[in-house]
Amino acid sequence: VPITMNSEFKFDADSKWKFHKEWLEFDEVLGEGEFGKVVKAFDIQTEKKKAVAVKMLKTGANSSELIALLSEFQLLQDVSHPNVIKLIGASTDGDCPFLVLEYAKYGSLRSYLRLSRKLDTCEVDPEVGVEAVTVKDILSFAWQICKGMGYLTEIKLVHRDLAARNILLAEGKICKISDFGLTRDIYEDSAYLKRSRERVPVKWMAPESLADHVYTTKSDVWSFGILCWELITLGASPYPGIPPQNLYHLLKNGYRMERPENCSETVFSILRKCWADDPNGRPSFKYLTIQFESLMTFDL
Ligand code: ADE
Repeated sequence: VPITMNSEFKFDADSKWKFHKEWLEFDEVLGEGEFGKVVKAFDIQTEKKKAVAVKMLKTGANSSELIALLSEFQLLQDVSHPNVIKLIGASTDGDCPFLVLEYAKYGSLRSYLRLSRKLDTCEVDPEVGVEAVTVKDILSFAWQICKGMGYLTEIKLVHRDLAARNILLAEGKICKISDFGLTRDIYEDSAYLKRSRERVPVKWMAPESLADHVYTTKSDVWSFGILCWELITLGASPYPGIPPQNLYHLLKNGYRMERPENCSETVFSILRKCWADDPNGRPSFKYLTIQFESLMTFDL
């Protein structure tokens, strides 16, 4: 009996996420990279055919891309927080492995913010559902991301690529931390610079990550500061005009981005704390959550 129970238990752990492609009705492509893509689909097993996002490899992907997909599967099994993208199911044994993820109807936060800029000029299709982004929205986005990151810190997970392009916006303007690693075209995206073998998002990286490949929750806090700058500028690209090759030297000499015009001194002082040269001098996500929470509830 113990053996049977044990094997049933193992089988259960695997079958918990088991998803068949016959349960999916595929729709449009949401994102595509060199080796992976995300496709919108409908889960026909749910009553209202709930929309989901299916992450899969493209033909030509090699074993390291498969490993990346399987690692993401492993990692997502243990995360459960309203501000982190959720795993719904997976098929990892067939010849077309895929992950089924919760669908975020507004797509990436960066694209949402950039689209919101065009609202006043009537260039946006009302169908897209983008609304004007207010100061309260921006503070709420920062606060939600802090909460998600606080959770990842608790479960000892370092993100390494925190940026507006990796935050999804779901129904009700809920931020979901995600990682497109595989599916974003890091070869086309100018945010990633080739340095030795890897392509790295230089302008989001803390000095110690640039110098020594050291990634910690404190280097995530640095990236969070850059992400806040992206929110405030409605999706601008950080360090405009500065070649990424020169950045490390500038940062080591104390250079930091200046305060955007529409950013209060209070908020900017928080960003500056995230960009402390000493990782231990940077605030925790817990502290940041409290700061944004109090800013959010002020009458603005
Ligand atoms: N693009 C990539 N992942 C997505 C998701 N989960 N929802 C919507 N768009 C996406």
